[in-house]
Amino acid sequence: MEKTLIITGGSKGLGLGLAKEYHKNGYRVCSISRSKNEKLYFMEQYQCDLSKTETIENVIKEIFSHLDKKNTQQLTLINNAGDLGTVNTLETLAPSDINYTIQVNLTAPMVLSSQFIKLSKDWNCKKQIINISSGAAVNPYESWVMYCASKAGLDMMTKVVSKEQKELRNGVGIVSIYPGIVDTNMQVKIRNTPKENFKAVQRFIDFYKHGDLFSPEQVAEKIYYLDADGELKSGQILDVRNV
Ligand SMILES: NC(=O)c1ccc[n+]([C@@H]2O[C@H](COP(=O)([O-])OP(=O)(O)OC[C@H]3O[C@@H](n4cnc5c(N)ncnc54)[C@H](OP(=O)(O)O)[C@@H]3O)[C@@H](O)[C@H]2O)c1
Repeated sequence: MEKTLIITGGSKGLGLGLAKEYHKNGYRVCSISRSKNEKLYFMEQYQCDLSKTETIENVIKEIFSHLDKKNTQQLTLINNAGDLGTVNTLETLAPSDINYTIQVNLTAPMVLSSQFIKLSKDWNCKKQIINISSGAAVNPYESWVMYCASKAGLDMMTKVVSKEQKELRNGVGIVSIYPGIVDTNMQVKIRNTPKENFKAVQRFIDFYKHGDLFSPEQVAEKIYYLDADGELKSGQILDVRNV
């Protein structure tokens, strides 16, 4: 029997860490991202820009067309891909920027989750969605309005969908996870933001200087074992630093 992980943003950063960790533990991994890396032969890579909402449905349908319903014991979707967006106060942001960040961080996970639930409706295996959210969902950082708002939206999606699915026989479990501060390109972008655009930038430079960042591998391992040990309860919003 097969265990399958569909993950967005498996090409780099935390997503790559998760893809490797699940693969190491026997999962077939299908990743969706804009770039494709031939060296990452262990996973099936689907190219898609998640800001282009109309293409998402086709990609997830294509992935499902290659899966074996009868031979799958565990099916997991990790909505991991994310974008910090332009870091600045709301009145400076272009409408197209606002649209892009909300599409990638909130609309795409919602469309993917919707399709995932629909396409796996008559699958008898264990099914779950893990949303990679952020402490920014509950902590309002000035100049991160799109990021904070989209992650807060993602958490609310978790809460609503968990209620909807709990009513069903073999519904889909869903959780949100805050991964802590992870040493990825996103943190490089944060540290490189000019102070005039982001008041809290020094805090993030200091985290890096003091070695406070987790590696993607550390966080991925923690998330995997929370999952494998049955610690992820549907509807939960959890911070890996508190478990
Ligand atoms: N790093 C942190 O400290 C931190 C803290 C809290 C939460 N998080 C969350 O953790 C998740 C992973 O972030 P990360 O730090 O690993 O970021 P990252 O290093 O910037 O990686 C982002 C990933 O998302 C994919 N992606 C971005 N835009 C995309 C698009 N338009 N279409 C398709 N794929 C796209 C990228 O793939 P391509 O470039 O190949 O498209 C890449 O694989 C995000 O949801 C982030 O919000 C991170």
